[in-house]
Amino acid sequence: MTAAIQVDGLIKEFGPSRAVDGVSMEVPAGSVLGLLGPNGAGKTTIVRMLATLARPDGGRARVAGFDVVEEAHQVRGRIGLTGQYASVDETIPGWDNLYMIGRLHRLPSRRAKALADELLERFRLTEAARKLPRDYSGGMRRRLDLAASLVGEPEVLYLDEPTTGLDPRSRNELWDMVRALVGKGTTVLLTTQYMEEAEALAENIVVIDHGRVIAEGTPAELRGRIGGQVLRIRPDRGTDLAGMARQLTGTGGLTAVADPVEGLITLPVAGQSDLTAAVRMLAASGVPVDGIDTHTPSLDEVFLTLTAGDPADDTRRTA
Ligand SMILES: Nc1ncnc2c1ncn2[C@@H]1O[C@H](COP(=O)(O)OP(=O)(O)O)[C@@H](O)[C@H]1O
Ligand SMILES: [Mg+2]
Repeated sequence: MTAAIQVDGLIKEFGPSRAVDGVSMEVPAGSVLGLLGPNGAGKTTIVRMLATLARPDGGRARVAGFDVVEEAHQVRGRIGLTGQYASVDETIPGWDNLYMIGRLHRLPSRRAKALADELLERFRLTEAARKLPRDYSGGMRRRLDLAASLVGEPEVLYLDEPTTGLDPRSRNELWDMVRALVGKGTTVLLTTQYMEEAEALAENIVVIDHGRVIAEGTPAELRGRIGGQVLRIRPDRGTDLAGMARQLTGTGGLTAVADPVEGLITLPVAGQSDLTAAVRMLAASGVPVDGIDTHTPSLDEVFLTLTAGDPADDTRRTA
């Protein structure tokens, strides 16, 4: 079976820094891959290269069987993109946007009109057909973006943070629409900052940070990566959380993460021996503790642990 997206050692440099630093991944046709990473991880840059909007500085990528550099034209005819900062024109009505995009795809006028009607209906925007997108709600706007990206009937669809900033109801609606598309055979590459979203839509997840793949697998496999339980320690107020996290990380080979917002330190414990080691270290540190418990990690905690390269890097938690 052929992969709809095949990426080998992709690199993109901006000046001296590498936004994408040797990323490889594969998306089987008809599946959804969740590209998960915090702000600035390199997600949009990867999507832009796969959409032929940016030229790689190294590595290769094939989409729908075509090379994104050498066969960019063929790739363009087979992809759709819903960007973080989308492509519809705010100053012309929703229907006209879809019609115009249809014409840009060289559809005959009659077909472009029918498709505009059809897509508006499918995305529950018929009543907003004559309204300007700048007057749409956030959810309507994203639905129009998604409709616009489907005009060319793409084999491969890129959704770049499609639900960031949406309320939970609009987000769930959009998820349903994406699932319907996938049901019809479209291959989807979805970028997101939320493990929950990746799990809701994607069978496989690639976690990236600082332009590199740091983990990949099914949601269940990723949970397994950090073991069964998370130990939560609540030190006395005024404790240097980052310092304490560093100390715990340094001694036991475990990864402790400071959570300054909640005043907590969390660390994954794979089994009883980890737990014993953590408690011993804690006692040895002499830091007074207000509370301590263990719980099953949420997926977001899994993600935070995976991306917590430096336990002193508190900014991640609040970003
Ligand atoms: N056009 C550009 N010029 C310079 N730096 C850029 C440009 N686009 C992205 N970057 C940098 O590349 C890194 C990855 O950015 P991006 O791909 O947008 O991340 P993400 O989409 O995961 O938030 C960031 O450090 C960002 O500042
Ligand atoms: Mg982005």
